[in-house]
Amino acid sequence: MPATVIVGAQWGDEGKGKIVDLLAQDSDLVCRYQGGPNAGHTIVVDGETFKIRQIPSGVLRGKTCVIGAGCVVDPEVFLTEVDELESRGLSTRTVHLSGEAHLIMPWHVAIDQASERRLGNLQIGTTKRGIGPCYADKAARLGIRVQDLLDPKILRQKIEVALAEKNVWLERVYGVPPLNLEEIAGNLESFAQRIRSYVSDTSLLVDRALHEGREVLLEGAQGTLLDLDHGTYPFVTSSNTVAGNAATGIGIGPNRIDRVLGVTKAYVTRVGEGPFPTEIEGPDQERVRDLGGEYGTVTGRTRRCGWLDLVALRFAVRVNGITSLALTKLDVLSSFDEIPVCVRYRLPDRSETEDFPAHQSDFHHCAPVFETLAGWNEDLTGSALPGAAADYVSFVSDALDVPVTLVGTGASRDAVLSLQP
Ligand code: IMP
Ligand code: MG
Repeated sequence: MPATVIVGAQWGDEGKGKIVDLLAQDSDLVCRYQGGPNAGHTIVVDGETFKIRQIPSGVLRGKTCVIGAGCVVDPEVFLTEVDELESRGLSTRTVHLSGEAHLIMPWHVAIDQASERRLGNLQIGTTKRGIGPCYADKAARLGIRVQDLLDPKILRQKIEVALAEKNVWLERVYGVPPLNLEEIAGNLESFAQRIRSYVSDTSLLVDRALHEGREVLLEGAQGTLLDLDHGTYPFVTSSNTVAGNAATGIGIGPNRIDRVLGVTKAYVTRVGEGPFPTEIEGPDQERVRDLGGEYGTVTGRTRRCGWLDLVALRFAVRVNGITSLALTKLDVLSSFDEIPVCVRYRLPDRSETEDFPAHQSDFHHCAPVFETLAGWNEDLTGSALPGAAADYVSFVSDALDVPVTLVGTGASRDAVLSLQP
C-alpha cells in the first residue's frame, strides 16, 4: 500500500503532524502537496520541541521530504528552518523542493497584511504569511517560481516587472510604503545561492519511488473546511486541501493513491473568522482550550473550540474519500462528565440534516443538534481505552461508517493507540 494521503478533516490543527511523524517511521518519503508557511507543526522529539512550517515533518525522522508543485514557499522561512534543523544536528540534505512551486515574495506578505487591515470587520483572519496573494498571482500567471531562482537574470527581471505593479497597489490602494527593488533582488539572489541545491524534479522522484514499491506519505496542510472550493468560503485558505489535490500538487496520477487517512480531533477548533456551529458556549470553551493547549503554532492566536461535529466530519469523509480516521487528543475530554456530539444540523426552515449544507446561508444559520455521550474521567495511558472512551470512538466510527484506526491519548510522541479496524 505505497501511497497514503493524510488529510485534516476539520479546520486544520487536527494533530496531523504527530500522525505523520508516527507513520513516517515506516515510510520512505514524506511529501507536502499544498499550502506554505501558514501551516505549523509542533513535534516533540526526545523532549525537544520542533516547530516547523515549511519543511515536511518527516525531516525529523531523516526521511526523504518533498515540497511539491502545489505548495508555496517563502524562501526566507525555508532557509531559517534549514538553519534551525542543521544547528540542532538534523540533516536537510533529504529535502527536495519542486521547481514548479511558487515563491512567496515580500509584496505577498505586505498585501496580505494590508488587505486584512482594510477588510476590518470582514477580515478572513489569515495567517498574514502571503499565502492568498501568492496563489492569486499564480492563477493570474504573474507568479515567480522556485525554478526562477536558478537563473539570476530571469529572476531580477521578474521581480522588476512584478514590483512595478505591486508598488502601485501598495501605495495607492493600501496606502503603505512601497518596497525597494534593490533590497528584494539582493536578498533573493543570496537565497537563490543556497536554495539551488534543494531544487529537484519532485514529480519524477515520487513516481520513481512508487514504482520501486516504496512507502509514500502525502501530507495535507490545513484542513478540509479550509479548502478553496469545498470549504467555508471565503473563510478558507487559497489552495485545495482535500485529498484529491495530493495527486495534482505532487504530479502523480490519482490512481496512485491507495489510502486516505483523515485526521480529526475528538472535538473541533478553528482559528480565524467564519461560521462554527458547534462552538462551545460558556466556560467549557476555555476549559477545552486550556486542556488542549489550543493556541496557534504560527500566529499564537487563541483557537475557538467546539464539540465534535459529525455533520462536518461526514462531509470530510465524502469530499476526501477518507478510508480510515485518526481521532486525536481524546485525552483532552477526559475530565468532562458528559460530552455533547453534534449529530445533525437544524436548518433555518426547521428541517434537520445529517449532510453538510450545500448553501452557505443554511450553514451560517444552522443550529447543532447534540447527542450527549458519557464521559470517562480516567486517564487514557493504558493499553486499552476505558469503556466510555471506547464508546465515544465507536459512536464516531459507526456514525460515519469509517473505522477509527488511531487514537491520540496524550501529548507525547508515542501517546497514540492503534485500534484494529
Ligand atoms: P491563510 O491560509 O493564511 O490565507 O489563512 C486563511 C484561513 O486559513 C484563516 O482562517 C487561517 O486561520 C486558516 N489557516 C491557515 N493555515 C492554517 C493552519 O495550518 N491551521 C489552522 N488554520 C489555518
Ligand atoms: Mg497547525
